[in-house]
Parts: sequence; C-alpha cells; structure tokens
Amino acid sequence: MAGRLTLAIIKPDAFAAGLAGQILAHLQAQDFELVTARVLWLSRSQAEAFYAVHEDRPFFASLVEFMTSGPCMPMLLRRDDAVAHLRGTIGATDPAEAAEGTVRALYAESKERNAIHASDSDENARIEGSFFFAGCDRT
Ligand code: CMP
Repeated sequence: MAGRLTLAIIKPDAFAAGLAGQILAHLQAQDFELVTARVLWLSRSQAEAFYAVHEDRPFFASLVEFMTSGPCMPMLLRRDDAVAHLRGTIGATDPAEAAEGTVRALYAESKERNAIHASDSDENARIEGSFFFAGCDRT
C-alpha cells in the first residue's frame, strides 16, 4: 500500500502573506491529518542541503535566496496515498499551469515563489521528513 505520511513546507512567500492557516485548512479539507509542524527560518546551509538535488540547476541560487528570505512551515501530513494526493492537491510547480482550485493556483505567485513544497515519492517523504522531524519514521 502507498505510504500514509508525506512532508509539506509552506514556503516563505505564503507564510509572510499570512496564508499558513488557509493553506492548512485547505489540506485538512482534503482529509490530510496534521501530524506535526514547526516554523523555522532556514539557514543558507539548510536550504542548500534540502534542495541539494537541484544544485546544478540555473535557479538553485535564487531558490536558496528565496527559501532563506523568511520563516517557513514544514509539516508532516497523514492520509492514504499521501504523496500522490498531496501532489494533486497542491498542483503544478508553475501556478500558471496548476489546475483550478489547487493550492498553487490559489496562492502561489510564480514558479519559484510557489507557496508550498511537497515530497515527490515515499522515499523522499522519509528523507525530507527526517530533515525537519527527528524520529518521523516512527509515526
Ligand atoms: P519545489 O516543489 O519546492 O521543488 C523545487 C523548487 O524549485 C520548486 O518547488 C520551485 O520553487 C523551484 N523551481 C523549480 N523550477 C523552477 C524554475 N524553472 N525557475 C525557478 N524556480 C524553480
């Protein structure tokens, strides 16, 4: 059975705009249960480590700049088939391409300042969950 936990991050653009509550309510309305969350301001080395898979991409420096521009809110979410459902709920990376009613269509500013991150596989959900929440593999 597909995994029941995934990681989301409400990014600095959405957090600074006061959208954390609305976005969390949107996710809970899609039957995601909030397992745990924190609010933190990523350091440069944390942001570089989290997005290391993108380090050769032309947008990497700008992405790190954005992700360190203010507090963000990582959270662990639970529901059946969590990774796929969350990816569907948040919509495409670029809000211009995100389906109507998705989090990014509603709240994202641009392809970079796109309001929310979600893990893209069960394996990355475990890796990214452990990045922010010690012992998350026990939940
Ligand atoms: P996220 O789902 O967190 O995964 C990597 C992030 O890099 C992505 O959301 C965007 O914020 C950013 N990103 C991806 N592609 C681009 C791009 N072409 N230009 C700028 N930022 C991008």
